[in-house]
Amino acid sequence: MGAGKTSAARAAAAALGARAVDSDHLLVERLGCSIEEYFASHGERAFRAAEEDVVAELLERPPSPVLSLGGGAIASERVRGLLERHTVVLLDVDEETAWRRAGGRRPLARDRSRFGALLAERAPLYATLADVVLPDSSRDVVRRAVPAMRSLAQAPAGTRLLWATAASGEYPVFVGDGLLGSGFRAVAGDAHVVTDETVGAIYGRAIDAASTVTIPPGETAKTLATAQTVLEALAEAGLDHDGHVLALGGGVVGDLAGFCAAVYQRGVRVVQVPTTLVAQVDSAYGGKTGVDLPQGKNYAGAFHQPTAVVADPTALATLPPEELAAGWAEVIKTALIAGGPLWKRVRSRAARPDRDLVLACARTKLAVVAADERDAGARQSLNLGHTVGHAIETVTGYARYRHGEAVGLGLLAALTLSAQPALREEVAGLLAEHGLPTRLDPAVDPADVVAATARDKKRRGGRVGFVLVEAPGDVRTHVAVSPDDLRAAVAELERS
Ligand SMILES: NC(=O)c1ccc[n+]([C@@H]2O[C@H](COP(=O)([O-])OP(=O)(O)OC[C@H]3O[C@@H](n4cnc5c(N)ncnc54)[C@H](O)[C@@H]3O)[C@@H](O)[C@H]2O)c1
Repeated sequence: MGAGKTSAARAAAAALGARAVDSDHLLVERLGCSIEEYFASHGERAFRAAEEDVVAELLERPPSPVLSLGGGAIASERVRGLLERHTVVLLDVDEETAWRRAGGRRPLARDRSRFGALLAERAPLYATLADVVLPDSSRDVVRRAVPAMRSLAQAPAGTRLLWATAASGEYPVFVGDGLLGSGFRAVAGDAHVVTDETVGAIYGRAIDAASTVTIPPGETAKTLATAQTVLEALAEAGLDHDGHVLALGGGVVGDLAGFCAAVYQRGVRVVQVPTTLVAQVDSAYGGKTGVDLPQGKNYAGAFHQPTAVVADPTALATLPPEELAAGWAEVIKTALIAGGPLWKRVRSRAARPDRDLVLACARTKLAVVAADERDAGARQSLNLGHTVGHAIETVTGYARYRHGEAVGLGLLAALTLSAQPALREEVAGLLAEHGLPTRLDPAVDPADVVAATARDKKRRGGRVGFVLVEAPGDVRTHVAVSPDDLRAAVAELERS
C-alpha cells in the first residue's frame, strides 16, 4: 500500500513497450463498486477470493502485461505459485512514506499501528517473492532499471537484483548462486581484472578478461605502492573510458581497485565482484574506496560508486574458515543496525552465509547509503564498531587482526560505551560462536588504541563521534565519549 505501484508499472511498461494493468482497477470494474464498498458489504475474505481470480487470470494469460498488484494479493498461495513464472518487483518504501500516501484511504489503512503491523507481517513474504527490489522510485528510476531487470533472464535461476541509489549515481546489484563462471556480464566493454594471488588462482578463469593485474593477498597490500603498480598495469593494458576495472576479490581488492578506478584517467567505471563474506555483505556497496597509510586506516581514498556489483555466494565455499568468521563480524554489525527480521535471524543462529543473508545485509547497507552517500549523517551508523576496530588495526600494523576480527572487538567496545551489558554479552557469544576473538591481545596497550582513535579520520572539530546502540535497530551517531570511558571500554576488552 502506498508504494507507488501503479505509476511504476506504467513507467516499466512504457520502457518495455508493454501494457500496464492495475489489478485493483480491474477488480473495481469487475465488482461494479469500490473496494471500500465491497469490503464493507462482503468482508475481506470475499474480496480476497475475487482478487485471487482476477490476478490469476492476468498471470496465466499471455502476453503478460506489467501488472501492479494489490498489496495483499500475495497472501494467496495460488497467486504466489503463479508468480514463480514471472519477474516480481518489490518497491521498497518505508512505513512512514507508505502511511503518508495510503493512510486513511484504504480499508486496511485506517489505523496507524494496524497498518504498521500489516506491513511488518507482509515484509518477509515480499522479500521472499521479490526477484527485484527497487527503492522508493521515481518513474525515471524505474525506466533506468528496466535493462538490468531484463538482463536477469541471462543470469542463473534464482539470481536477485537490488537497485542501488546514491546521490552520485545508481547501479544494479546482482546476487545469485553460480553467477561467477556463468558467462553473465553486468556491463558491456573490456573488463580489466584486478585480483589477488589467491582469488585469481581460483576464480580468474571464470572471467573473460581483457587484462589481469594480480596483487599479493591481504591488508598489507592495501597501499599506495600497490595502487601505483595497478595503475601502471592498467595503463600498459590500454584501459580507456570504454572499458572498466573489474575488482575480483575481497574488500582489499575492492577498495584498492575501486580507488584505482576513481583516479585512473580521472575516473573509469568499476564493477565489483566480491568473493569474501565481508565484501558481499558490506564493502562492495556504497562507493567507499581507498588505501591505508602507515598513519591511519583508509587514509587515502575517494568516493566512487560501482557501475555494477555481481555477488556469487557460492564463491564463499572456498573461503578459509577464519575469513568467513571475519565476515560474520560485519553481518552482526549490520544486523545490529537493521534490527527487525535480520537481527532476529542472526541472534537465533538461523543465518547461513547464503544468498538471502547477502541480500538482507546489502539491502540494509544500500538503504543507509541512499540516504547519505557522503557520510554526513546517517551513513555514520555503518561505522558501528569501526572506530575502536580501526584503531586496533592501526596500532597492530594491519597484521595482527583481520579487519572483521578487529571490528568484532570494536563492536564489544561500542556496546560497553552504550551501557548495554546484556547485549554485549549476547554479541560476545555470537562472535565466539563464529570463531572470532572477544578478548584483545594483552600485548596491545589500551592507551595506544585510545590514542589511535583520536586520529580516526572521521573526527570533526577535534572530536571523534562514536556510534552507540540503544537497541538493535536503534543506533545513535556522533556521540561524544570521554577519554576515561573509552580507556575503560578498551581495557575491558583485555579482560573479557
Ligand atoms: N569500502 C567499504 O565500505 C568497506 C567496508 C568494510 C570493509 N572494507 C575493507 O575491506 C577489507 C577487508 O576485506 P576482506 O575481509 O574481504 O579481506 P581480503 O580482501 O583481504 O580477503 C581475505 C582473504 O581471503 C582471500 N579470499 C578472498 N576471496 C576468497 C575466496 N572466495 N576463496 C578463497 N580465498 C579468498 C583473499 O585472498 C585474502 O587472503 C579491509 O581493508 C576493510 O577496510 C571496506
